[in-house]
Amino acid sequence: MKPGVRRRHAESIPLDAFERWDRLEFHQALARFNHDRFSATYPGASWREDIARETAFRLAEGAWVESERAVLAERLAEVPTEPNAFVAWFEALKDSGPGQGDPLFDFLATRADRDEMRWFVEQEMAGEAGFDDLVALTQVKMPIQAKLELARNYWDEMGRGNAAGMHGPMLERIGAALEARGCIDTTVWESLALANMMLALAGSRRYAYQSIGALGVIEMTAPGRVVRVDRGLARLGIASRARQYYKIHATLDRKHSASWNREVIASLVATDPANARAIAEGALLRLTCGARSYERYRKELRVADRTGRRRRPLAAAAAAASPA
Ligand SMILES: [Fe+2]
Ligand SMILES: [Fe+2]
Repeated sequence: MKPGVRRRHAESIPLDAFERWDRLEFHQALARFNHDRFSATYPGASWREDIARETAFRLAEGAWVESERAVLAERLAEVPTEPNAFVAWFEALKDSGPGQGDPLFDFLATRADRDEMRWFVEQEMAGEAGFDDLVALTQVKMPIQAKLELARNYWDEMGRGNAAGMHGPMLERIGAALEARGCIDTTVWESLALANMMLALAGSRRYAYQSIGALGVIEMTAPGRVVRVDRGLARLGIASRARQYYKIHATLDRKHSASWNREVIASLVATDPANARAIAEGALLRLTCGARSYERYRKELRVADRTGRRRRPLAAAAAAASPA
């Protein structure tokens, strides 16, 4: 079925939209729904229709997440359930997990020009679901030891009560320095899918442990990537203050990751060994979405094909984003 413009502002969505719609249309619709779903608003006369719409989108979201889960079932069969063994398995994802060591980041560090870096940051801005809100959603009804670590992590996201130290606005500052504008319409589906996955996990209590794994694997794998992005931004002459988002995560997330693995992951697996598989699954769901994004970015930026052939203008690349 050929998607139309109207569908992008869909009031409803079929359960199997992730199969029937093309991927860009599906993830744009889900991204727009998520914007509405988590916005603070007022009750209105249409609240019944709003709930019906939300139900349709959450069913379609669930069908998509379940399809992604199904692919991972075999890989998860051997996940250890003893806490220390599980943390060792989890930490090994840093080297062996999907998307790790992707050449995109060496390209950004050493060769990307300003337009290419701007395009990358725009994709990242649109694909950023808001780590602080994801942590806040995930901590609901968690056991005390895990909840306390999630609270400490959230407090760091909040700049420990200081607006200048909040992490979310730091990303906006780097966007402003590059004149980058994250926007659903110009974002590739892989990047939208990444944000949609994080919100699907954190926004549904049935995926609470998957969300724990997905957030933990971000803390663990971010430093290796952001240090290269920061190097690229410095090479392009971006001021140190504007680069704060990448600089701070290159070091702080190492500490966050160590604490998360000990206080959240090990403690939850000790509480119930069944949590291990769900946490592992969340980590792999997140890494798979990340790996797809890096592959797509490389394709758009022609990272593996830079032998002097003229590159496609980035505006054209974004317009041609669907289907991949
Ligand atoms: Fe952060
Ligand atoms: Fe962090």
